[in-house]
Amino acid sequence: MTHYFISIKKFVDEPYSKILGYPKSTSSQIKARISELEKLKIKSIALTGPTTLGKIAILGKGYVGVVVLAKKGTKEVALKIRRTDSQRKEMKSEAVLLKLVNSVNVGPKIIDVSKNFLVMEYLEGIKISEWVNSLKGPGSTKKLKSTIRKILEDCYRLDQIGFDHGELSNISKHVIVGKTKSTLIDFESSSINRRPSNVTSITQALFIGSGIAKKSQRMYRNPSKDQIISILRQYKEEKSRESFEKLLKILRV
Ligand SMILES: Nc1ncnc2c1ncn2[C@@H]1O[C@H](COP(=O)(O)OP(=O)(O)O)[C@@H](O)[C@H]1O
Ligand SMILES: [Mg+2]
Repeated sequence: MTHYFISIKKFVDEPYSKILGYPKSTSSQIKARISELEKLKIKSIALTGPTTLGKIAILGKGYVGVVVLAKKGTKEVALKIRRTDSQRKEMKSEAVLLKLVNSVNVGPKIIDVSKNFLVMEYLEGIKISEWVNSLKGPGSTKKLKSTIRKILEDCYRLDQIGFDHGELSNISKHVIVGKTKSTLIDFESSSINRRPSNVTSITQALFIGSGIAKKSQRMYRNPSKDQIISILRQYKEEKSRESFEKLLKILRV
């Protein structure tokens, strides 16, 4: 898809300035942020995506950031812009966490960071809940299973390095499914000081109680809730490859 990119110079004024300093900012704050973007070699931004900010289309919005599609040189990237009302004072700590998960091939690849911006790989895709709802026709059970397996493998690698994502119970906001790959996102609430529970949280979110679980139950015979809880208890006790494989087997993915 071709996107229409707008030079960051145009972002000093409304309505675009709202994106650089959401929800409220002064014009000197905006000017400072534009020069920060110039240092990062971000030249333009495309107003596109599934969410809106006022009347402007963007990739997404959370409590920490507003995410837009941007261009660094000729490369399309995702730009996470720190909200002016965010609890986080800077983006560097999230960048450190993202680098860590990238080391085991999880998450969008980090490209650059500054106080108010995180530049990362742009993930073209949709939220997992929407993706699951869109599944139909031959081959869809296979697709569902391989996507679930891929996500669980990512979570397993995070468990292995003692890294806890922290928000995987809210799966829909934190997994993007694309044409060729699925990726966990948003490591802003992550920690290396907690007992990791990525596999456990995501299995519960996928198989117990969610809309995704309902759909999956209709597509193939899922294990019972008791079976899932019991195998997760075993995995929790010993986070080995062997117990992880047992879990995959029980989940039939
Ligand atoms: N690398 C990316 N590529 C495409 N969209 C993204 C990317 N990162 C985040 N998004 C979108 O932006 C939304 C908000 O990003 P997120 O990192 O969750 O912000 P917050 O930390 O404020 O919760 C996500 O739910 C997702 O829809
Ligand atoms: Mg978030």
